[in-house]
Amino acid sequence: MHPLRSLILAAAGNDVIRRQVATAPVSRDVVRRFVAGETTADAIDVTRELVARGLNVTLDYLGEDTTDKALAEQTVQAYLDLLDGLQADGLAKHAEVSVKLSAVGQALDDRLAVENAARICARAEQAGTTVTLDMEDHTTTDSTLRVLAELRATWPWVGAVLQSYLHRTELDSARLAGTGSRVRLCKGAYAEPPEVAYPDPHQVDLSYVRCANVLLRGDGFPMFATHDPRLVEIIGTRADSLGRKPGSFEFQMLYGIRPDEQTRLADSGHTVRVYVPYGVQWYGYLMRRLAERPANTAFFLRALVSR
Ligand code: FDA
Repeated sequence: MHPLRSLILAAAGNDVIRRQVATAPVSRDVVRRFVAGETTADAIDVTRELVARGLNVTLDYLGEDTTDKALAEQTVQAYLDLLDGLQADGLAKHAEVSVKLSAVGQALDDRLAVENAARICARAEQAGTTVTLDMEDHTTTDSTLRVLAELRATWPWVGAVLQSYLHRTELDSARLAGTGSRVRLCKGAYAEPPEVAYPDPHQVDLSYVRCANVLLRGDGFPMFATHDPRLVEIIGTRADSLGRKPGSFEFQMLYGIRPDEQTRLADSGHTVRVYVPYGVQWYGYLMRRLAERPANTAFFLRALVSR
């Protein structure tokens, strides 16, 4: 892993740095480049703008690693409010939600996470939309896939995320490529040990292509979450040669990253979904985005000093 990436990921977990950055009067614009805002209304406003540009959305209420039942409940309530808002504004057809199980109680116990995620799924069904479970670090993969299986017994449309940096993911892709499944394939954003993950970015890319092939050959709905221009092109070509029509898979990118490419893909007939995070706990998310790209860190630091 690039030393700057390791440093920023370490900073993401460091409480002193967290307090300093979180309380620094960071320019609103810097955070707003990657985060829709702090409230449900902010999230809905950004969703409306993106949908008007022909894009679809998945919304993430920021917060993770909750070891407090009350905070987990607060997160569930935030999702329920959001789903009500999306339905009321007629946006549910184009906007779903992404949920981190650790934010709804996974670290406390699997049962609580299942029950809380089930409440979100039930409301999503009423609103006429779907839910995708984010994937966190490798210690949670088995638990997340178990929760997924349980939720899918009632709501077969619940989606999962698989990370191509993990050795296990080609096999997981095959297991989840069946009819009705929704799988979001990404490279993976956590600092993982070489025992479980490919340390070399080129190997991660090769694994991405292998997993993409498995998903494209399967009967489910693959969702390719990447900003990597080479992978986007390879997937377009593979999808074509396997007879996958636009609309039988989608591209996904993060809010604020390659927005022109998001529009270009949508204008060329692809389904594109933008992952939009919002909420007061934006710090960990922002640090992961900075870790991915030194240019973003420079952008962030410049904005800090030039306020
Ligand atoms: P990579 O980081 O190699 O970047 C390839 C190219 O894309 C770069 O050269 C640059 O051109 C552009 N680019 C990438 N990141 C950029 C940035 N921050 N700013 C500007 N340009 C950038 N991870 C996870 O572990 N669990 C999860 O549940 C999810 N969920 C998820 C949903 C969606 C919709 C997306 C798009 C991503 C995730 N991720 C995730 C994050 C994912 O694992 C990964 O960390 C990022 O998408 C970056 O990887 P890329 O595939 O973009 O490639």
